[in-house]
Amino acid sequence: MLGKTKTLCLLAICLLADSAQSLATPPNLNNLEPRQEPRYKAVAAIAQKRRNDALNAFMPMPAVNQTELGNDVRPYLLTSGLLSKDEIKIIKLDAKALVRKMRNQALTSVQVTTAFCKATVIAQNLTNCVTEVLFKEALERAKFLDEHLNRTGEPLGPLHGLPISLKDTFVTPSHPSSIGFAAFANEPTANKSVIVDMLENLGAVLYVKTNVPTAMLMGETINNVWGETVNPIHKKLTPGGSSGGEGAIGAMRASPLGVGTDVGGSIRIPSAYTHLYGLKPSLGRFPTWGAKPAIAGQDIIYSVSGPMSHSLEAVKLFAEAVLSEEAAPWTLDPKMNPMPWRRRVLPDGAKLKFGILPCNDGIVTCHPPVERALKITAKALKDAGHEVVDWAPVNPQGVEALTTQVFTLTGSDAVLPLLKAYDEPLLGVLKLLFPGGETVPQLTPAKLRELIINRNQLQKDNLDQWRATGVDGVIAPANVPAAARLQMDPQKVYGGFTGFGNVMDLTGCTFPVTYADKNLDPKRGSDWVPNGLRDEFVQSDYDPVFWDGAPVGLQVIGQRLEEEKVLEMTEIIANAVQFKDRVYG
Ligand SMILES: *[C@@H]1O[C@H](CO)[C@@H](O)[C@H](O)[C@H]1NC(C)=O
Ligand SMILES: *[C@@H]1O[C@H](CO)[C@@H](O)[C@H](O)[C@H]1NC(C)=O
Ligand SMILES: *[C@@H]1O[C@H](CO)[C@@H](O)[C@H](O)[C@H]1NC(C)=O
Ligand SMILES: *[C@@H]1O[C@H](CO)[C@@H](O)[C@H](O)[C@H]1NC(C)=O
Repeated sequence: MLGKTKTLCLLAICLLADSAQSLATPPNLNNLEPRQEPRYKAVAAIAQKRRNDALNAFMPMPAVNQTELGNDVRPYLLTSGLLSKDEIKIIKLDAKALVRKMRNQALTSVQVTTAFCKATVIAQNLTNCVTEVLFKEALERAKFLDEHLNRTGEPLGPLHGLPISLKDTFVTPSHPSSIGFAAFANEPTANKSVIVDMLENLGAVLYVKTNVPTAMLMGETINNVWGETVNPIHKKLTPGGSSGGEGAIGAMRASPLGVGTDVGGSIRIPSAYTHLYGLKPSLGRFPTWGAKPAIAGQDIIYSVSGPMSHSLEAVKLFAEAVLSEEAAPWTLDPKMNPMPWRRRVLPDGAKLKFGILPCNDGIVTCHPPVERALKITAKALKDAGHEVVDWAPVNPQGVEALTTQVFTLTGSDAVLPLLKAYDEPLLGVLKLLFPGGETVPQLTPAKLRELIINRNQLQKDNLDQWRATGVDGVIAPANVPAAARLQMDPQKVYGGFTGFGNVMDLTGCTFPVTYADKNLDPKRGSDWVPNGLRDEFVQSDYDPVFWDGAPVGLQVIGQRLEEEKVLEMTEIIANAVQFKDRVYG
C-alpha cells in the first residue's frame, strides 16, 4: 500500500502534462494574455460571483478575524450581533417547534426564513458550504404561506413555512445544479426533482443549495468550482461528503433540516462528522427521481436520498410528511415502494439486542476517539437494560473491492470527459478511482454480471448473519477518524464502515456521541497490533492534539426497509447516550 505513493507522484506528473496540453489549445483571439488559464477557472469565477452577490445583497458580512475564532467557529453566529435576539431564538428552535409556532401564528414564515437566510450568509462565510442562493423566491414563498394561513386559517401542509436546505444534486429550476463540475456550473436547469416538488407541496420553503465534492464521489467536500467546505465544529477538519455542505450548514444551525443523498456513506459520513442525525434509507423510501446523478444509470449500488438535521424530531418530521398517504411518493417516482410511514413499530420499553461492529473491521482500525464513542454507546445501552453483543462485519474485503470496481468501471466515462472538457484536475479519491485520469476499457457483459452476482451474494450473506445473530440493530463507526483532515491523503481514505450499508441496501441513522479529547484519546501504544501496513499507515495520521474537540458520531444500522425501526432505535440510543452540544446544549 505504501508503494502506491509512487503512483500518486506519477499521477501528479500526468496532471501537469494534462494542463500543459491545454496550453496548446488555440488561444481566444480576444484574450491576448500570454498564458491561458485552465477553462474551469473562468467558469468558477462566474458561479462564485453569482453566489457571493446574492448573499451580499441580502446581508453584507464584516471581516471576520479567523485567529480570534477557535477551531469551533459556531459561537460567532451567536456573538457577532448580525442576528437579532429574536432571530437567535428562532435558529435555536428545532424544525418541529418552528412548524408548531408558525401554524399557531406565533411566528411567521418570513421571520423564520429571514433568520435562516442570515445564518446562511454567516455559515457560508465561515465554512464555504453554499452553492446556489434561493433567498429571493424563498422569501416570496414564505410571504405567500403567511398570507395563506392568515386568510384561510389553514396551514399549507405538515412542513408549513419551514426552510429546508438541499444538497446541490436536487434540481430547483432554473438554478444550476453543478454537483461540483465546471461543465454544469452556470447551466440553467428546467425540470424539478420529485422531492423538490413534494417538499414545496408539503409547505416547505427551499432557500439554499449546498456544496458537494466533484461528482459526489468523495468523503470530503471539495471541487474546482466552489472550493472546499470546512467543518464548523473544527475548522481544520472536513465536514465529510458527499453531502458535506448539508453537514456544515446543519451544524452551523443555518438549516433546521436538509436533504442529502448516499451511495457510499454520503449522508452518514457528513452527518457523523458534524453531530447531525442523518437517515440513509433503503432503495424505495424517499424519492431521488430527477436529482442530478453522479453516474447516471449506475444501479448496482443504489443512490438514495434522506434527511439530515441536528434534531432527530426534524428527521422524523421529514419522514412522516414525505411518506404520508396524501404525499404518496410512489405515485411520483417509479422506484418507490407503496409503503406509508409506520409510527411506533417498537413496543413501549422494548429491550433490544444491539450488535457492535468493532472499531477494527479486519481491514482498518478507527482512530481512538471513535473507539471511545463505541464504548460510551455500548455501556449506555447496557445500563439502559439492552443486550449488547460483538458483531463481525460480513466480508469487508468483498464490500471494498465491489464498491471500488463499481465506481471505477461505471464512473470513468461518466466523470472524466466532463472534467477534461474544462481542464479540471482530479481531486482526492478521484485520483485513485480513475488512475491517470484515463477512461477504463469497456465494462463487458460478463464483468457486469459478475459485479451483480457479487453484490447479491454479499446481500444474502449479510441477511443470513443478521438472522443467525438475531440483532435488532448494529452500531458501527461511520469512518476511521472522528472527522477527516481537510484535503486528506486519499491513500488514508477507507469507506468500508458505511459502504456495506449501501452494498447490502440497509437502513442507517447517525447520532452524536462526544468530542475527541486529547487527554482521553491518546495515540495507540506499542501494544497495538495493526492488521498490516495499510492499517498502520492510516492510523499513523492520528494526532490527539490536532483532533482535540472534533465531533464524534456513530451510526446504527437496521435491515432493509426498516427506516421506522432505525429512527426509533436512534431515539433509544440518543436517550441513553445523553449527548450535550458544547454551544447549543
Ligand atoms: C486578529 O486577532 C488576533 C488575536 O486577537 C490579533 O493579534 C490580530 O492582530 C487580529 N488581526 C486583525 C487583522 O485584526
Ligand atoms: C467572508 O467575508 C469577508 C468580508 O466580507 C470576505 O473578505 C471573505 O472573502 C468572505 N469569505 C468567504 C469564504 O466567503
Ligand atoms: C393578517 O391579516 C390581518 C387582517 O387583514 C392583518 O392585519 C395582519 O397584518 C395579517 N398578518 C399577517 C402575518 O399577514
Ligand atoms: C425536461 O423534461 C422534458 C420532458 O421529460 C425533456 O424533454 C427535457 O429535455 C428536459 N429538460 C432538461 C433541461 O433536462
